Amino acid sequence: MAQDFKSWLEELKNRCDIVSVMSKYCHLVQKGRSYWTCCPFHMEKTPSMCIYDYEQTYHCYGCKEHGDVIKFVQKIESCDFMQAVELLAKSVGMEVPNFSTTDSNGIEKRKKDKDIVLEILNVAKNHYIENLYKPEARLAQEYIKKRLLTKRELDDFGIGYSIDYNEMPNYLKNKGYTFEQMAMAGLVEKGDRGYYDVFAHRLMFPLFNVYNECIGFSARILTDDKSKAKYRNTSQTIVFDKSNTIFGLNLVRALKAKQPVDKIIIVEGQMDVIAMHKAGFKNTVACLGTAFTQKHAKQLKLISTNITLCLDGDSAGLNAANKVVDVLAQEGFTVRVVKLPNGNDPDEFIKDNSKDKMQQLIDSAVDYIDFQIDFLARNVNFEKSDEKAKFVRSALKLLEKLDSNSEKQIYLRHIKNKSGVPIDILQQDLFKRNVVSNKTIDSTAEEISTQENGTNRAIKFILSSMLYKKEYVDYNFNLKKYLKNDTYIKLYDLIMLKHSQDKSFKVSSLYDEFDFDSEPNLVDIVNYNFENNGNNKKYYEECLWNIVEKELKTKQAMLNEQFLKEKDSDNRKKILLEISNITKKLKSKNMEDID
Ligand code: UTP
Ligand code: MN
Repeated sequence: MAQDFKSWLEELKNRCDIVSVMSKYCHLVQKGRSYWTCCPFHMEKTPSMCIYDYEQTYHCYGCKEHGDVIKFVQKIESCDFMQAVELLAKSVGMEVPNFSTTDSNGIEKRKKDKDIVLEILNVAKNHYIENLYKPEARLAQEYIKKRLLTKRELDDFGIGYSIDYNEMPNYLKNKGYTFEQMAMAGLVEKGDRGYYDVFAHRLMFPLFNVYNECIGFSARILTDDKSKAKYRNTSQTIVFDKSNTIFGLNLVRALKAKQPVDKIIIVEGQMDVIAMHKAGFKNTVACLGTAFTQKHAKQLKLISTNITLCLDGDSAGLNAANKVVDVLAQEGFTVRVVKLPNGNDPDEFIKDNSKDKMQQLIDSAVDYIDFQIDFLARNVNFEKSDEKAKFVRSALKLLEKLDSNSEKQIYLRHIKNKSGVPIDILQQDLFKRNVVSNKTIDSTAEEISTQENGTNRAIKFILSSMLYKKEYVDYNFNLKKYLKNDTYIKLYDLIMLKHSQDKSFKVSSLYDEFDFDSEPNLVDIVNYNFENNGNNKKYYEECLWNIVEKELKTKQAMLNEQFLKEKDSDNRKKILLEISNITKKLKSKNMEDID
């Protein structure tokens, strides 16, 4: 992080007091120096999230979620770091300067273009909405009735209507916008007779970004005219990228700011999203008829990693589902798949049946591997040996990515039921595929890294005591010498620097320096529970000794080995002397003897 950005960020965090920011989202109750609230990130009835006013941090003792004001906004608004920074800056009227480049001219222009494009799109969106209620919109009103949309859906999704080729461009022109600006927003194109509304005679569905700004439209024709595309989406602009846009995500995000959202339902079309929301499935989104990408997955991940796919029941839908599953599984999502009866999409299914039936379908969603096995089996003629063999091969390949044997066993049964090949034969084949698997090596490494040894516990307690400026801390003790982990060293240096400058140190500033998600030890340090140790001063001294003793013993063992190998008698004497020094220190247990 550049230094100027750091100080700007500090200023931002000073102005965005965590208590006032969080109280916009949660009901806070003050108790002493801290505040308590029911954690917005998991379901609970009694408050277990504590907000530390002085440190400007929050910590949930239930689900362990914790952070500073930026992390809170990231979580609750389901956005990334810079987006959270921008949201906070906006709320206190601070400009986010551009720190990364010297070419401020090009960037300034782009920023101005972006602002104007967003402004035009917002004006257009509101005007399309107004249009929907005018007499000229009779066809659209009839269409809406036919599709059973009520005022609620029209409002929630901001649905509008483009009356004809010129109405909107003229309206915007009168408002003072140029055709070039409208073209830049993707609203108009230039034809033989000048600029025209590319969405003429279509029902307008606005699309939003994380700030709830309209960035474009998806627009449906009202007829069955096969010569025209059913939906026309805004083409790529400086604010719109189809492969990065998810229909309905703004509403799911708003929902998550009010209550925990434990899973997301993905459907194929925007009318399906609307039908699902209407039926009470407010956690539904869709991609705009485009390939599902990692970019989509990233955005979803900010809300939930638990996905139920509910794509159309035709073969295109199944193919799409199979691809989406691959992307999501790779990104570590838990994925389940709903199979809609032949040819139905969710919108039609709810109309033909009921929302209760839809709920039943969702509850009966199958695990994605089962889905993929069925998918592989769908056109296989099991009477033919070669087809059957090919199915078994590809089905076993699916299981390779699973971690545990017990999981594999479960799915093997499914493959057996489909193919009739006995389980033990399948198992042998699967084993052959996996001989060069490195899973065992992985799990041992993981075990070692998660093993909590006494010295690590001691170091964490000492660093935590230093972080919270406990009166018993001895700043003359050179702890750095004993630290082997880069994060610990960095933290130690930071604390010592502040200490030497006699400056106060806000714990929340650590969130700018470290990636807490990959530092479980740091999380323990920041959230240390000092009440567990009884006498903290005594425990502090024991911890120091623990660290020193460990180091001395390691050194002693090393010297012992050297001594056995050493042939030269002078050297042997030197080593012996060192060993006896260490032994003395170990015996005396006196920290004064330690340098
Ligand atoms: P569908 O054809 O399944 O749409 O396309 P749908 O949602 O069921 O539409 P209705 O019920 O007929 O109104 C799925 C999605 O693919 C995109 C749209 O986002 C649509 O919602 N699509 C479809 C396009 O972008 N362009 C098209 O011409 C058709
Ligand atoms: Mn449909």
